[in-house]
Amino acid sequence: MLTSAANADNGYRLWLRYDPVENVTLARQYRQQIASVVFETGNSPIIQSARTELKNALQGLLNYSPAFVNAPGKGLRLIFVKGGSKQLTPALNKLINNTSNEGYVIKTISLNNSPCLVVGAKNDKGILYGTFHLLRLLQTQQTLANINITESPKLQVRILNHWDNLDRTVERGYAGFSIWNWHKLPGYIDPRYIDYARANASIGINGAVINNVNANSLILTTDYLKKNAALAGVFRRYGIKLYLSAKFSAPIETGGLKTADPLDPTVKQWWQQKADEIYRHIPDFGGFLVKANSEGQPGPQNYGRTHADGANMLADVLKPHGGIVMWRAFVYDDKTPDDRAKQAYNEFKPLDGKFRSNVIIQVKNGAIDFQPREPFHPLFGAMTKTQIMPEFQITQEYLGFSTHLVYLATLFKECLDADTYSQGHGSTVAKIISIPVNNSLTGIAGVANIGTDINWCGHPFAQANWYAFGRLAWNPDQNAADIARDWLKMTFSNQPDFVKPVTSMMLASRETAVNYMTPLGLHHIMGTHAHYGPAPWVNNLSRADWNPVYYHKADSAGMGFDRTATGSNAIAQYYPPLRDSLNKVETTPEKYLLWFHHVGWNTHLKNGETLWNEVVKRYYKGAADVAGMQKTWASVNGKIDSTRYHEVKQLLAIQAEEAVWWRNACVLYFQTFSKLPLPAGYTKPDHDLQYYKDLKFKYLP
Ligand code: GCU
Repeated sequence: MLTSAANADNGYRLWLRYDPVENVTLARQYRQQIASVVFETGNSPIIQSARTELKNALQGLLNYSPAFVNAPGKGLRLIFVKGGSKQLTPALNKLINNTSNEGYVIKTISLNNSPCLVVGAKNDKGILYGTFHLLRLLQTQQTLANINITESPKLQVRILNHWDNLDRTVERGYAGFSIWNWHKLPGYIDPRYIDYARANASIGINGAVINNVNANSLILTTDYLKKNAALAGVFRRYGIKLYLSAKFSAPIETGGLKTADPLDPTVKQWWQQKADEIYRHIPDFGGFLVKANSEGQPGPQNYGRTHADGANMLADVLKPHGGIVMWRAFVYDDKTPDDRAKQAYNEFKPLDGKFRSNVIIQVKNGAIDFQPREPFHPLFGAMTKTQIMPEFQITQEYLGFSTHLVYLATLFKECLDADTYSQGHGSTVAKIISIPVNNSLTGIAGVANIGTDINWCGHPFAQANWYAFGRLAWNPDQNAADIARDWLKMTFSNQPDFVKPVTSMMLASRETAVNYMTPLGLHHIMGTHAHYGPAPWVNNLSRADWNPVYYHKADSAGMGFDRTATGSNAIAQYYPPLRDSLNKVETTPEKYLLWFHHVGWNTHLKNGETLWNEVVKRYYKGAADVAGMQKTWASVNGKIDSTRYHEVKQLLAIQAEEAVWWRNACVLYFQTFSKLPLPAGYTKPDHDLQYYKDLKFKYLP
């Protein structure tokens, strides 16, 4: 059922475990309900993937191989239909043909007087997605009686961004090395590639940028294009397009040109030929992702050109082939800005309307950098004539690597559900990104947390973040709790006394991490470079905005970054009435308080506490809540396999220690400014501040 690396409970099988359905009555019903299957779909490679998946899954889930019949006949129970079928009513055929290109219908009908389940779609991909949805119903033990599901993805480009280098290291990767074995490609197809594609397809992901945004231009050379083509061949069978991060200076580095100026005709010609060559190798190549003029990466500004000049030149060469450019707005150049949070907006807002329709601007969820909590990026809603796609980080660069259990669906949802007020009340980020601008594609990206670790993501629960990203990319309106429940059932067990407490633990986990790391809107106070652990005291890096002290601005009066009209005025980048409420301490949500305001230590917050006391309480609560997670986990001992139980148990113990480390280091450090005692009942940290400052780490991931 799964390729060879599958081994009982090491996590390799992700949420596609297909172990026998625990409820035997239900399993018996399922066997009857899907006793015979017909595919009226043709037999394209994608359909073959769907068939194989179905077969293997049913064998595992039900220990059963239904009869795969060629022609519809009596007693037929499960029918896959592409486009329509004579057996179905005109109304159902119409419903099927009204789904979007990737959508599907799953519906119970009556055929020859007995119930029959139809999985119908307009295209092959819909059949594949419908198959995985049907299997999810079995995996989560739902009834198959009277099903009536119609699904279409709300976003079109649902893509993983791998920050994988050609030497197989992974930038901000905490799950081993890159799964792409460049040396053995194109000749050797690691079975992992197939399982990777299956996992993505099962959650609706339809694209992968396979190399780091800090790109190596070699990826575009002929040798590597052959390797890319081999991967694309695997992906294609699962409806996934391959995309590449393009280095803007590639024409110089690999093309021997003297310039990469996007308005230089020889440069354009080089890219034109390169695009043609790529499409000869990969006819369904998706397009380029570009990080330009950011953190030392080359870009159009090196030649006095704008982001639009650069993006449009690449868009033009891809256009005839149907490719797109995802141009990142994570710009952060070599000049220190007055407020780094304002920079992307300042550079991109004036370019609104200047991008080609096959350019999508890829914007991180927040304006700084994937912090445990950030307010939504002000570019959402600000670019009314340009397509925007959000970029989330699935890998936990700032959230405890793959050691801490932090379920990120709540973080993703916080951004997606945020109201930008750009077109009045209700202009949520999710809504804005799902409306095509000038016939552009809509999309969403997630920075992958995948590596060569046997369980793919390092922490067994980090798989949930990959899973949740896919589910939310398909439909950003879904709820984090439902996704967590599905994932737990498919990945561990359907037992309610396991699913219930662990769902609650997952849902609270992100707030817990925020509390022990960066409560009340604090941000970017972690260790330099590796971003491991607390280091709010760092103040000696060459650029002001690399230093934690730049972000928290603690002094004897209080702390926080004044981004109001009296400060950097970053709030002006938001629409009213949000802008106005963020301008005042009293009307700023407390979770963002120190993001927008410098607040006095003795200022009273809404709950009556002073800032200082509240900061301390949050840090202590965060650490205490990790201890609570350990208790919850101990309570499910015996309800799942012992391998993963013990793995998570050990990781939670490390998380508990690190939460106390964060708490102690931050409280002691901020106390040097507040000069106030801990509130009554809070035990003093057992080390002094110097101890935490002296901690040094080598060879961090
Ligand atoms: C962060 C991260 C970098 C990454 C960058 C980006 O700054 O630390 O490793 O390259 O984001 O998103 O481009």
